[in-house]
Amino acid sequence: MAMNDSKRLWVCPSDQLAEGKYKRIDALYADEPSSVLVFRHQGQCLAYRNLCVHMPRTLDCEKDMIFDETGQNLRCSMHGIIYHPITGESLSTMCNGEKLTPVTVQEDAEGVWIRDKRVKEMVGEN
Ligand code: FES
Repeated sequence: MAMNDSKRLWVCPSDQLAEGKYKRIDALYADEPSSVLVFRHQGQCLAYRNLCVHMPRTLDCEKDMIFDETGQNLRCSMHGIIYHPITGESLSTMCNGEKLTPVTVQEDAEGVWIRDKRVKEMVGEN
């Protein structure tokens, strides 16, 4: 497995992140325990902090899924806000226009990485 370094966090090999699949990575976000959702949409790797704009809940808090029934949008499992996967913007009446926090990802020959200064490895957790 590829190793984390000071600049980036390992997510997975590219072939484990097929279209419409996601990985939840537990990590520190701005020094707070949090998680990041990394997924592939229209061939592109995208990531957001796993925190709904409506209430301080994770998108997968009620169900182990982050997409709506079309597979084309993100959906919070708590009260059902639908988010545009590329802009992270709420398309629902609730919190319309508010955005998930984007996290920078990188894909190279080894696979997929989180490369964002705000996101750090959670050390000493288990
Ligand atoms: S907490 Fe996500 S829709 Fe309410």
